This record gives sequence, C-alpha cells and structure tokens, in this order.
Amino acid sequence: MKSVLFVCLGNICRSPLAEGVAKEYISKHNLSIKVDSCGTGSWHIGEPPCLNSIKVAKLNNIDISNLRARKIDKDDFNKFDKIVALDESNYNDLLKLGCPKDKLVKLGYYGYNNKDIPDPYFFNDFEGFYTVFNMIYKCVNNLFDKVQPK
Ligand code: 4NP
Repeated sequence: MKSVLFVCLGNICRSPLAEGVAKEYISKHNLSIKVDSCGTGSWHIGEPPCLNSIKVAKLNNIDISNLRARKIDKDDFNKFDKIVALDESNYNDLLKLGCPKDKLVKLGYYGYNNKDIPDPYFFNDFEGFYTVFNMIYKCVNNLFDKVQPK
C-alpha cells in the first residue's frame, strides 16, 4: 500500500481523525505512505475539523487543526490505491461515484466486524467523540499493522 484516502460525509469529524492517527503511525514507523482524507459532501469545504475532533486528537497528542475539508474528486480513485470509508453510506456513495470495489474498504473491517464508525456530528457530548476516536485509533493501527512489511 502506497497511498490511502479516508472518506466520511463532511470531512470535519471522523476522516480528519483517521488522517491524523494514520500520519502519526506513519511517522512513528518511518513509512512512506501518502495519506489524505475527504468528504462526499460539500457543506464544509475549506473548513478546519470540528472543535471536538481537534480537542480529542489534541488530548491524544495529535494535531489536526491545520487540516482543511475537501470533497472527493473522481481523480482520487486513480491517485490512491486504498480508499477507506468510515461508514456504510460513505461506502455506498463512493461505489456510486465510481470507486473501484477492489480499492474500497470500510474502516470497521479492521477491528469492529466491519461495523460503521458512527457519525458524531450531531452528538452534543464530548464523550461520543472519545468513543469515535478510540474506534478510529484501533482500526487505523490495525490497518497499518496488517500492511507493514515484517
Ligand atoms: P463527518 O461528520 O462526516 O464525520 O465529518 C459530519 C459533518 C458534517 C455533516 C455531517 C456529518 N453535515 O451534515 O454537515
């Protein structure tokens, strides 16, 4: 695996966390893998991650405050060799947009029996973000542990 793109709906809550966790893993293990994230929706283009995602990342010593939301582009399907959807609806939207099925996987495949990473956007409490962070952390680490040359 040379490149991986994490995709959620808004690219402000979940996929920026996955990107931040992945970049931390890559730098810790001295790997050269390109990582990015984006959303299938366009509401938040150009915005930084939501405050609760920035906060939960920071509590785990990961800085995602400089990330900016962008929307998926059809070129991404050529530019990345692995495309990781955060939930089933992101997965289905990506298939509809023409994402090759052999590149596409759900993040929950790597640690949660292929379950969805829930969307915390409408959560009012910070606790929910902590749960989501921990799910993402576990799955992203498993994803890279799996592909890292032994
Ligand atoms: P995300 O969360 O997909 O994890 O970034 C969302 C952010 C914004 C919206 C939905 C989900 N929204 O509807 O604006």
